[in-house]
Amino acid sequence: MTDASTPDARLSGAGASAKVRVWDPLVRLFHWGLVAAFAIAWLSADEVQPVHEIAGYAIAALVAFRLVWGLVGSRHARFAQFLKGPRETLAYLGDMVRRRERRYLGHNPAGAAMIVALLVTLSGTAFTGWLLEEPDRVAMLPALPQIVAPAWADDDGHGTRGDAEEALEEVHETLANLMLLLAALHVGGVVLASFRHDENLARSMITGDKRAPGPGDIA
Ligand code: HEM
Ligand code: HEM
Repeated sequence: MTDASTPDARLSGAGASAKVRVWDPLVRLFHWGLVAAFAIAWLSADEVQPVHEIAGYAIAALVAFRLVWGLVGSRHARFAQFLKGPRETLAYLGDMVRRRERRYLGHNPAGAAMIVALLVTLSGTAFTGWLLEEPDRVAMLPALPQIVAPAWADDDGHGTRGDAEEALEEVHETLANLMLLLAALHVGGVVLASFRHDENLARSMITGDKRAPGPGDIA
């Protein structure tokens, strides 16, 4: 029998709707854990500080895990599999504009660039949050006050806290806002790619499976 829903067809990748495993369980746990922790960090900011900090630490731990998994994880989790240079990324974006971009089984080059932006911005947000948590930590970065203080010198000189701490809070908040923008673009990209290739990418991030590559697809 050649029904694509039989276990054999699923394994062999035969049939029009054959599926292949793309995202391993840890990538999926990482992704949805990150989405949850990010939402909690946002909603608790300036409201429930202990919850905010725990969610922030969870994000830092998840990002650290992802960096390691990007080196030793399954095929489509590896940075070496999906990170592309500027030339290939720009070519892909150009193809998108011309509506002729190819389907990638793993992350496409634009999605990969966004993943780097998300991971870097999350790291910066968590790091500045960690510094803010304990004013003494700012002192561990001797160069920081000199870099950021001038930016604040004329702004409001009547704060009770150090200029560096206020500037750092501003940096933390700006990075958090940038994250919101990047996350919105990321979800927009996921929706767009889902329509373009007629597949539900969000569901694949839950089940781990995607349609088997067809002719012209990049596996
Ligand atoms: C509910 C909204 C979201 C949906 C539906 C969604 C969906 C997805 C999908 C489908 C992918 C795989 C993209 C591909 O096929 O190449 C992905 C990857 C990714 N997303 Fe999201 N995402 C959401 C929110 C977020 C947020 C808020 C963040 C960051 C805080 C985020 C960070 C990431 C990262 C880092 C990856 C790379 C996954 C990996 O390889 O480990 N996502 N997302
Ligand atoms: C990466 C995820 C994080 C996000 C998205 C995030 C986001 C935010 C936002 C939006 C604010 C509000 C700023 C304001 O309106 O005043 C804030 C404040 C703050 N965050 Fe985070 N944060 C993150 C991680 C952390 C971490 C890991 C810590 C510490 C362990 C932390 C500590 C703080 C502190 C101390 C404030 C200042 C609260 C106040 O006194 O007003 N954050 N954060």
